[in-house]
Amino acid sequence: LPGCGESRLGLTALLALLVGVGLLAALCSLLQGTLVARLNARLAADVRVRLADHLLRQPPSYHQRIGPGPLLGALTADAEMIALHLGNLVPAAFGVAAGAVVWSLTLGGGLTGAGVPVGPAALVVAAVLGTLGLANGLAAWSTGRRTGASQERAQRARDVALGALTEALDGVEEIQAHAAEDQESARLGWRLREQARRQERVALWSALGGSLTQVVVVVAVPALVVAATLLDAPTAALAVVLPSLTFLQAAIGSATALWTQVRLTRPALDRAAGLLAETPAIAEPARPRPLEHLAGRVRFEAVRFAYAGAERPVLDGVDLEIPEGRVTAIVGDGGSGKTTLLRLLVRFADPDAGRVLLDGRDVRELSLRELRSRVALLRQHSKLFARSVRDNLRLGAAAADDNTLRAACRTAAAEPLLAKLEGGLDAMIDPGAANLSGSERRRLALARVLARNPSVLLLDELEAGLPQAMAERLLADVRAAVRGRTCLLVTHRPDLLQADEVVFLAEGRVAARGTHEELERTVEGYRRLLARRREAAEEGGEA
Ligand SMILES: Nc1ncnc2c1ncn2[C@@H]1O[C@H](COP(=O)(O)OP(=O)(O)OP(=O)(O)O)[C@@H](O)[C@H]1O
Ligand SMILES: [Mg+2]
Repeated sequence: LPGCGESRLGLTALLALLVGVGLLAALCSLLQGTLVARLNARLAADVRVRLADHLLRQPPSYHQRIGPGPLLGALTADAEMIALHLGNLVPAAFGVAAGAVVWSLTLGGGLTGAGVPVGPAALVVAAVLGTLGLANGLAAWSTGRRTGASQERAQRARDVALGALTEALDGVEEIQAHAAEDQESARLGWRLREQARRQERVALWSALGGSLTQVVVVVAVPALVVAATLLDAPTAALAVVLPSLTFLQAAIGSATALWTQVRLTRPALDRAAGLLAETPAIAEPARPRPLEHLAGRVRFEAVRFAYAGAERPVLDGVDLEIPEGRVTAIVGDGGSGKTTLLRLLVRFADPDAGRVLLDGRDVRELSLRELRSRVALLRQHSKLFARSVRDNLRLGAAAADDNTLRAACRTAAAEPLLAKLEGGLDAMIDPGAANLSGSERRRLALARVLARNPSVLLLDELEAGLPQAMAERLLADVRAAVRGRTCLLVTHRPDLLQADEVVFLAEGRVAARGTHEELERTVEGYRRLLARRREAAEEGGEA
């Protein structure tokens, strides 16, 4: 070690300094690694939480339009991509800037030490920095665009694959029942492979960006030597500049890699921002009107509604007033708009024309939360979650105690089911409610609606698919359970229900209304519909 001379002390101090610096560097890199990892994890969680919250508030038409693939993609891969690259961006950019500054100072010092005056030394530093920066920038820009475009295509392919996977897993019994495993596996395999192919393209373009920057240094070094020779530069200066180029190129190469990362992240960022910026089609009123007391009067006023892209409206001039506290059966052919009518009442969609009123107030004037807590919809294909029975029953009634839940179960005649399930309210429901029969699912779903103690109940085909005796019993139980409340009940068996009134929907409007006996006596279409239903029940329902 020249300069230390014979001094043992000097040598020891130098070695200690080296070890100290080394350890400090190790500690810094550990800190940087863990901090960046923490930052990434938190950022990913933040993005996911915000997106998930936003998606849960979007109306059904939104989810129908976009489908699960892109939404799952945004929540998983996109969120990770954003966090990974954004989290790395700041330390990496800092590294690049620090590298360039250290290089400039070292080279400048080296040149002046070799006898080059300060002015020309600064010029050399600027020229080398500029040339390499520009060449690298061009290389990064040209491949960066392609990288970004291929990343967008990879994102779309991933969305398709995720959508297909979700659908296949959701419908695995359907696939097996049709012995279609081979067919579906091939379909899925093609999509997953397509996604991998797209990903390969992305890797190719970003690798090309990296290798182009290496080409830059290969070209730049001889070019600089030639330029220096032509300019009669001193050999000592050249001897200082050339070895330092590798270090500089490493710093600039990191900048190129950074740019590639930015291009890779753009599609994920754009999509997350686009999803978050979308204003929901079902808007909350600017100034919601509170509902102190709800009697439960329902009125459809010249309601017209068409689904997006449909040629004809489903409902076209529905006028219907339903007094409070009555059980009204909604009857009509398949596809006549019964479900749609109920969905308008809870604002799963808004009418294109006309109004839906609750106690004389347009439902669009109420906050969605208030509306849906007072008007409970039991969907045609209602879903139970893979949680305990208690947590399922508390879905819309988080504060309900066990007594309330048991009372709801009693009214929905779900008590025998509670007794049968090991653990009662603590029993777990399997994914897809696979451990329950069709009628058990419906009874629990009914109890869940009743636990909320709503003023208006909308029940969509509670009895569909059940054998006649079971349907009859369920409808009788419902009739007792909803006493005193407004209840709109879509049913295929108004003859079993004994509703206060039956509303017969046909051709997008109310074709007739009255008691079941009146309609059966006077309305030909109604009579034919019921005859068909009874026939179907006798053929298959009792089996
Ligand atoms: N989300 C949707 N997007 C597009 N069209 C829809 C949607 N839901 C229903 N439709 C269409 O609207 C029409 C009415 O559907 P709706 O579900 O209201 O009928 P329904 O009377 O409840 O029938 P069912 O007795 O079979 O349950 C149908 O022709 C259906 O194809
Ligand atoms: Mg329906």
